[in-house]
Formats: sequence, structure tokens, C-alpha cells
Amino acid sequence: MEKALEYARENNDGFVAGLEEFLRIKSISTDKSFSDEVGRAAEWLAGELGRIGVQEVEVCATDGHPIVFAQHIVDDALPTILIYGHYDVQPPDPLDLWETPPFEPTRKNGTLYARGSCDDKGQLFMHVKSIESYLQSGDALPLNLKMIFEGEEETGSEHLVPFVKENRERLAADVVVISDTAMFAEGVPSITYGLRGMAYVEVTLTGPGRDLHSGVYGGAVENPINVLSRLIAGLHDDDHRVTIPGFYDDVIPLTADERSTFAALPFDEEGWLSEIGLKQAKTEKGYSVLEAATARPTLDCNGIWGGYQGPGAKTVLPAKTSAKISMRLVPNQKSPDITEKIRKYFEEHTPSTMKLDFKDVHGGKPVLVDTKIPAMRAAAEAMKAVFGKEPFFTREGGSIPIVADFKEILGIDTVLMGFGLNSDAIHSPNEHFGLDRFRLGIETSIRFMKVFGEQSA
Ligand code: BES
Ligand code: ZN
Repeated sequence: MEKALEYARENNDGFVAGLEEFLRIKSISTDKSFSDEVGRAAEWLAGELGRIGVQEVEVCATDGHPIVFAQHIVDDALPTILIYGHYDVQPPDPLDLWETPPFEPTRKNGTLYARGSCDDKGQLFMHVKSIESYLQSGDALPLNLKMIFEGEEETGSEHLVPFVKENRERLAADVVVISDTAMFAEGVPSITYGLRGMAYVEVTLTGPGRDLHSGVYGGAVENPINVLSRLIAGLHDDDHRVTIPGFYDDVIPLTADERSTFAALPFDEEGWLSEIGLKQAKTEKGYSVLEAATARPTLDCNGIWGGYQGPGAKTVLPAKTSAKISMRLVPNQKSPDITEKIRKYFEEHTPSTMKLDFKDVHGGKPVLVDTKIPAMRAAAEAMKAVFGKEPFFTREGGSIPIVADFKEILGIDTVLMGFGLNSDAIHSPNEHFGLDRFRLGIETSIRFMKVFGEQSA
């Protein structure tokens, strides 16, 4: 391992330059006009894996964006890890709020700014560079490696689930390793053991057959925007609980133990608020900020449109309006069930003056991983060696739905060792990643492989 660590230290500048090249590719998965770029990112990544000496690398076409599969088998007697990451990114919008262009990676005071720098190209690349450090330094790789990198994580991993089902044997491993989450705070290493799931829907209400003059018709015609706003507002009560009947039915309540663990974490609520420009939080009644943001289910309207949005005023009574709504789920909520429940809510509350169109956009499963598994111990040991501190075990509010699928389909657990920070502005303008964390993440990955390889051999 020493040679690998030394190689990583000596080649850090080259590693960052490689990441910058990766970040220049506009692999925005949700926007069809960027499909070629998504494909180019897959090819680039596969080329990089080949270049660093990974034995077998394949770009697998799907009905959506390609999946990069790779493996490097040293010895059947050694344990095998499956590294997962995603090379697709969120759209950079709103563009005018970026201080430097999203796809022109820019270094400022030890921080790298670009879309995907943290989520997830930067974090995925840490493992690639850790592997390079073993393979290129001549140090013995302490375990077998499998890798799966997808280009549809940000849009719900539609084609990854069937791929995993069809490739059960090829993907067989002892544990999945993912870096696509955050640390509890700067300098505080963390292993995430819980992620929320997702139910995502889009609703459209149509009233009149065309846009109307609000003076000529207003007062006698119901306005779709007014109605949709009323329906959306009705989705929460005064305790900030979701009002959809049955929404909480399958929620496993937090245990007293879990709640005291949450309470004992050194959470800086003031810092958390000020970093996002707020003076006050709003949680479901009876829950702390940390609990509400990571371990309780939510409902948020993500976008709403209709009517006139240009400059000045236009007196229009719009024919239709739409909204996108996401719900973060916790064990044991199921996205098809929650989607049906919200569909029913809209069906029952849409007045007879309107036509409702309801679209199930995507869903994903929540997950809780057993913190006692050997790979968690190995990750904790590696983090302690790198950061000089024991990591915290935390739950996070974001979603990586494939984690639950890996467990269900392949029967294997995942260790989530993330190096992001909530302040890295993922999905936001000016996303960034600290180059110190990039370096420490590479070192952690190198050490993890060694500890896990020896521990399980
Ligand atoms: N990296 C995030 C997930 C994440 C963010 C986990 C922060 C923990 C902390 C991931 O790329 C992501 O954004 N996933 C989507 C999934 C969704 C489309 C099903 C999400 O959470 O919105
Ligand atoms: Zn991500």
C-alpha cells in the first residue's frame, strides 16, 4: 500500500488535471439534446480505466445512457468489491448564477468549481485514481475489483436495474462501495448508513380550451393556477406534516436510541442555516432539523409553471398549469404506493371545472445499511488513518435508489463513504469540491482496499 500512497501523493496534480478533462464533458442526463455528451463521458471514462491498466472494460449500451462495466481480478481467493458511481450530472441551470462557466472547471483557493465536481464525477474519480495508484505503482492490489458507472442516476437509474438483474453473476461481489454522499462537516469523516427514497410526479390541470382575457372571462371561469396552488398548499398541515391519507402508514418510527444518537451529533444548526441564507428552519412538528432533513419523509414542489412569465404584466387567465412534485421516502415507504396515494389526492380534490393529467415520473427505494458489516469497519479504519478521527455514522436525506436494489438483487450491502459537504452546492450553481477532500478521498480509498482485502482474505 505504501507505494500506492506515494504514487497518489506524487501524481496529485495530474489527477486533478484528469478530473478537469472529465468535467468538461457536458453529461447532462435529463436533457436529450446532451445525449452525445453523456455517451462521450462514458467512452472517456472507459478509456481512462483502460489507460490505467484495468484488465476488462466495457461500455454497455442500454435503451438509455450507457453503463460502464469494468473488472480487475487478481486472485479468486481475495474478496471482491463493486465500486459504483455516476458520470451523469444535473443541468447547470440557472446559468446566470454561475461565477465561472459550469463546464469550464476553475480552481480557486484549493477548490474546484464545475458541475459534477462533487456529484459525482469528482468522487467517482477518487476511486479510479486509487486504483491507478495500485496498478501503476506496482503495488499489489489487495482485492478484486468490479466497477459499474452509470449515466442515469440523476434521472432515476431506469436502465440500471434491469442491467443489474441481467448481470447478477458478473456483478457478484462482497460489498458495494460508493462515494456519492457527504461528510457530516468539514474535517469530520462520515459513513452514511441511511438514504431516503423517492416518488416523483408531475401534475397538469387544464381548464378552458385556450388562454382567456382575464377581464372578459375572469370571475366566471376557474383559473388552473389558482386551483393547483390551492391543491399544493393543501398537501401540508400546520404541523408541516403531509396530509395525503396514508402517507405515513409504512414509516418505521425512529427509535429512542436513534433519536439520542441524532441528538448527540455535533450539529451546528446556526451554521447550517446561515450557509443557506436562512434565519429559521421549518420541520415536521416534534422533529429536529437533522431528523427532519435525513430520516423523515417529505413532500416538495420542485417547479411550477403556467400563464405569463415574461417581463411586465399580461392579463391572462391561462388554459393550463403544471407542477413537479418530489417526495423523499424513508423505510418502509414504497414509491408505487405513495405515488398512488398522491394520485388519489389529486383525483379527489380536482374540481369538476378542470381536467387532471397525472404522470408518475420515477421512484426509488429508501435504504438502511447495517453498520456492523465488515466493510463498514474497514471504511472506519481507513478514515481514521486518513483524518485522525473516528467517522460518524449518519443518515442522509438524498437518494441513491440503486443501493436498495443492489441489496435486493445481488444480496450485498453498500458502504457509503462520501467526501462531499452540504455546502458544495450540488444540483446548484457554483457546485464545487475541495481539492483537499479529493486527495483525502483517494487516500481513504487506497487504505480501505488494503484493510478490507486483508480483513476478509
Ligand atoms: N449524490 C446525490 C445523492 C445524495 C446527495 C446523497 C446528498 C446524500 C447526500 C445523487 O446524485 C442524487 O442527487 N440523487 C437523486 C436521485 C433521484 C433522482 C432519484 C436525488 O437525491 O435527488
Ligand atoms: Zn450523485
